Amino acid sequence: MHKTVQDIIKLKKEKKKISVITSYDYTLASLCDKAGIDVLLVGDSAGMVMLGYENTIPVTMDQMCMFTEAVSRARKNSLLVSDLPFMSYQASIEDAISNSGRLIKAGADAIKLEGGSVMAETISAIVDVGIPVMGHIGLQPQTTMLSEGYKVQGKTKDSAMLLIKDAKELEEAGVFSIALEMVSHEVAKIISETISIPTIGIGSGVNCDGQVLVLQDLLGMYDKIKPKFAKRYMNLSEDIVKSLEDYKKDVESSVFPAEKNWFSMDDEELKKLREQIGS
Ligand code: KIV
Repeated sequence: MHKTVQDIIKLKKEKKKISVITSYDYTLASLCDKAGIDVLLVGDSAGMVMLGYENTIPVTMDQMCMFTEAVSRARKNSLLVSDLPFMSYQASIEDAISNSGRLIKAGADAIKLEGGSVMAETISAIVDVGIPVMGHIGLQPQTTMLSEGYKVQGKTKDSAMLLIKDAKELEEAGVFSIALEMVSHEVAKIISETISIPTIGIGSGVNCDGQVLVLQDLLGMYDKIKPKFAKRYMNLSEDIVKSLEDYKKDVESSVFPAEKNWFSMDDEELKKLREQIGS
């Protein structure tokens, strides 16, 4: 049995840190699951790292369902959370519920959506039909990209007060955890100490209850943006390019394929074939 939202909430109660990583495809999601990561997040960052968009705004429900299905085939142990993409939940509560339902049918255990107090009513409605919700406050790429761009949130007293209010109202609305993106670490600490559900930080310091990273940042596979908050555990893109260069050389020099990579006919059959075609 895989982890449930209750298991994730319990980790905070037991003062254990929560590991979250984004996943979008079967192969890498299998490895994340095998590594014991608590939560696989099918983030709408898929639009950037998997589809090459400039930001997350063009991502569609169909795309999120496809990524969610692939990850759900891979996961055995982790909790699976999927993002509602831009404009799949903002226009009406009906949209929010039916699109959350689509992600659950695609294999998600819970959905995540961006927004503070303004989303409280929508969140309550989704939770009321039985779908667990993760909130997402601080930097909200679906909307801040349209106005301000990537900026640290909660650097002034007033903006910090608003974030704390958002977090409390999301908890009251029924979210089981809240992602805090690029929130000053002092405010992330206050929020984490104030609410009883887990906070999952990205660029929000060490005092959050858990951390999330984009998998391709961690593996060193996505070079377009290199956020200060991301830790690279390897430089996989260098290894991949080197392997492909070696492959190209092997093909050009006929080093690949070697005998161990091909298949042979039976000698007798080959003899008969040669006789028939006259060679
Ligand atoms: O889409 C995503 O990857 C996310 C994380 C950055 C939290 O929402």
